[in-house]
Amino acid sequence: MSENSQVQLTQSPITTGPSSLIPDMSSWREQWLSALNDPSGFWLDKTKNLLDWAQAPSLGCEGDFWSVQQEPIRWFADGRLNVSVNCVDRHLETRADQAAIIWEADEPGQNVTWTYRDLHEQVCRAANVLTDLGVSAGDRVIIYMGMVPHAAVAMLACARIGAAHSVVFGGFSAEALRDRIIDCGARVVITQDEGRRGGRAVALKSVVDEALSSPEAQVDKVLVYKRTHADLAWDESRDVDWESACSQVSAQHEAQAFAAEHPLFILYTSGSTGRPKGLMHTSGGYLTYTTFTHRAVFDLREGDVYGCVADVGWITGHSYIVYGPLSNGTTTVMFESTPLYPDAGRYWSLVEQHKVNIFYTAPTAIRALAAMGDEFVTKYDLSSLRVLGTVGEPINPEAWEWYYNVVGQGKCALVDTWWQTETGGISLSPLAGVTPTQAGAATLPLPGIQPVLLSPESHLIHGPGEGRLCLNMPWPGQARTVWGDHERFVKTYFSDFPGRYFTGDGCRRDEFGHHWITGRVDDVLNVSGHRMGTAEFEAALITDELVAEAAVVGFPHPVKGQGVCAYLVLRSEDQSFGALSDEILARLQAVVRARIGVHAKLDRTIRIPGLPKTRSGKVMRRILRKVAEGETKALGDVSTLADSAVVEAIIEAASKA
Ligand code: WT7
Repeated sequence: MSENSQVQLTQSPITTGPSSLIPDMSSWREQWLSALNDPSGFWLDKTKNLLDWAQAPSLGCEGDFWSVQQEPIRWFADGRLNVSVNCVDRHLETRADQAAIIWEADEPGQNVTWTYRDLHEQVCRAANVLTDLGVSAGDRVIIYMGMVPHAAVAMLACARIGAAHSVVFGGFSAEALRDRIIDCGARVVITQDEGRRGGRAVALKSVVDEALSSPEAQVDKVLVYKRTHADLAWDESRDVDWESACSQVSAQHEAQAFAAEHPLFILYTSGSTGRPKGLMHTSGGYLTYTTFTHRAVFDLREGDVYGCVADVGWITGHSYIVYGPLSNGTTTVMFESTPLYPDAGRYWSLVEQHKVNIFYTAPTAIRALAAMGDEFVTKYDLSSLRVLGTVGEPINPEAWEWYYNVVGQGKCALVDTWWQTETGGISLSPLAGVTPTQAGAATLPLPGIQPVLLSPESHLIHGPGEGRLCLNMPWPGQARTVWGDHERFVKTYFSDFPGRYFTGDGCRRDEFGHHWITGRVDDVLNVSGHRMGTAEFEAALITDELVAEAAVVGFPHPVKGQGVCAYLVLRSEDQSFGALSDEILARLQAVVRARIGVHAKLDRTIRIPGLPKTRSGKVMRRILRKVAEGETKALGDVSTLADSAVVEAIIEAASKA
């Protein structure tokens, strides 16, 4: 019997509303089987009901996980639509005066509401501006902004004219931004003068300037939304002021329909190499999947105020702040600040003030807030809440219970949603009001998702067990390729377990068939819900001449989920191992911040005499991971090490750092 056999399933404290797409478990079963048996038929039927197509598709899915080597999978290939029209224009008839976006600014009390009519005008104007700047269908546009509604407008304006956007999270450094500008061949960058976060200014335009100072990163224009009106450098020949440009163009824009497989966006994410990959998502399938899952998972209802406090720089912001919610005609909240500004009650004051019905955040925020005490929650009226969601990393049962009982007062459905940049939308999750839950389980697959567990030797695991999580069949929301490198796409996701999509995650399945994600099994780190590669840290560290060799691993961290631990071999006369001097530590923190971004930080650094390598020179990361976890004895087989004495030295150094 597995350790979970004592665990009871908790029935959802709510039932589904009148517009539920999957009202109960028998409907989930029926739809899941129908999507399994006839994926094309299932999704063609869904998409015709969920979206407005200029030309309805007759084709469902083409291609599979074997043929993906030759060419990307396609969905609805003969259909044509405009994503921006689906997210904005089609709601004008019935919702022109309904709030589309509620923007909660960094300073409490400064909020702005945009109706669907406002949003439509803004998107049309921005689309006209982009066209005037020379952007046309098929071009790429980088968006480097904070959490302002103009970021959503920028995305929708690109979608409207068929240009693929690539949003780069506003914490990334100039170097990281430059690499992305070059990789996607962007024609225009859209940014803002500065962001605001936690009472402080966040440099954005000046970072763009720095990125563009590199001769390989050249763009035609930089469109700048002035958020703080800070006094900044301005290049008259290149920089364009958003407000004044928008005021000079028409508030109308006739949108053209594009093929379903027309690229919608590229989003860079970390993998197991030092170079991030640009996952490309297309239009019809992505919008179908995000619209469907947003409605089904959260049991979205007419009149709901929906608040997802992620950032548009990550996939959660794309799928569940902008595209899914707006396509569904929801009121979506955009939150500029942090959960701790001005104090740990910020989320709950936001919920009270805007009467938020559905609230979606990351486990790391829940853990940080739970540690601050319940008073920050209980002093607010949270009675509007009906559904709570989490995403981004495994949620530990204690954090789950706190969220469920203290925030939700035991009256809200709690959905732990598992998915990835690559999947485009929620793939494993309870459905609010439907699926019985267990604290910490992502439970069951959405229709169209067929999860399987495999042993490292590719044996299929039947029944309860643990293995590598793969998905067996295509679904409309999945990324189609890595921008400019389809080979890398195939190699990363379809070669370890041929014929299946490999997620990179480990997963346990219990006797209820529920899925418990155990974390990444590759070299990807998940720190406070931010995805970073160990190889990215290593590549950054070795740019410092002081560092001869570096190996980075993750270790369990009580709030961040995972912390970053760097083992360093330094070029230095001084042979003291263990902790780094403050000066060297500060220097290396600056290096990773400059190469990656403000979200990249070393939580622990250990100076060692040498890395544990096999005779063929491969670093045995398993040993480093174990030592970082505090293990000193059960390190597994070390007989293949070239020099086994190094292990003792590493353990000793770790005890001093
Ligand atoms: C990785 C994907 C999905 C949007 C935000 C992250 C981890 C995500 C869960 C969850 C356990 C989770 C996985 C996944 N992850 N959600 N509910 N439970 N782990 O997107 O940056 O592409 O990261 O985040 O490890 O592979 P991402």
